[in-house]
Amino acid sequence: MNKIPILMDCDPGHDDAIAIILALSSEKLNVLGITTACGNQTIEKTTKNAQGICEFLGRRDVPVAQGRKAPLLTPVYTAGIAHGESGLDGPQLPEPAVPLQEESAVVFMARKLEESGEPVTLVPTGPLTNIAVLLLCYPHLIQKIDRIVLMGGSVVSGCSGRGASEFNIMVDPYAADIVFTSGIPIVMMGLDVTNFTTIGFDEKEKFRRAGRVGALVADLADYFGRGFEMVGWCGVPVHDACTIAYLIDPTLFTMREMNVRIDLSGEFTMGSTVGDSYGVEGREANALVGLASDRERFVELLLGAGAGAEKGAGRNEQNSGLN
Ligand code: BDR
Ligand code: CA
Repeated sequence: MNKIPILMDCDPGHDDAIAIILALSSEKLNVLGITTACGNQTIEKTTKNAQGICEFLGRRDVPVAQGRKAPLLTPVYTAGIAHGESGLDGPQLPEPAVPLQEESAVVFMARKLEESGEPVTLVPTGPLTNIAVLLLCYPHLIQKIDRIVLMGGSVVSGCSGRGASEFNIMVDPYAADIVFTSGIPIVMMGLDVTNFTTIGFDEKEKFRRAGRVGALVADLADYFGRGFEMVGWCGVPVHDACTIAYLIDPTLFTMREMNVRIDLSGEFTMGSTVGDSYGVEGREANALVGLASDRERFVELLLGAGAGAEKGAGRNEQNSGLN
């Protein structure tokens, strides 16, 4: 089977961590590396968390490179309220034994694109800072990017506290604008679909019984779920894992093509993803937007990931040692 080569750019973050677990457990994906973004916590913390997840999974073969310290033009804005002081409060992760890549995230991604014999899919699940800088600094590599499958935005509703914007886009709206106007095909998994793609609170026990990786997913869901449980949700949204689930099995999702623009001037809506959902404005579509998911099948996929990760199903033979 031809694996899809991907580069993950993330800010772990509980749901980013679950996305990493799902990606590294899948026989369909070839994870060329993980780069980190400043988002849910400072760059040092999200980087340590990404390394800790790889270490927990015994995946020292997956290179991790650290991204930029701050959004392009706006101040650092973190989400300790949702992800805790460490960015991944709750489960205890091992200290990473493998050093970071010496290259920065952007230089690392550029090298991986240069080296790849086939176009690579970028999977950002945090603010889009690194991806925007990559596109600006290495325009000749745009042709090596197959598509960008991102978690961010919402075309119907928002939850950032700033009008209708979603956290990842709100944190670095200028970076998002660069990405959405790049001409690269975009798959946008926003809150429209991710808020409903949940692990039910009554399903966590199933995960706990599914081995040590399943138990980690349950622990991650425990911490990240607290706030949602308090306000009456039935489960914890696994936002970022929707990107990886889409790549593994696109039939899990209902998608619609549309034009999406980033609001860069609204006093209360800065960073909103304005989707022309019904094509009334006649603007050319630039994104395939997730609108609904088959939640039960998504949960089955995640449950299988625990077992897959234990077997090392997603191990990439070419990624032996540091590269
Ligand atoms: C996004 O914000 C972050 O807190 C999550 O990791 C996810 O990427 C959801 O709005
Ligand atoms: Ca994230």
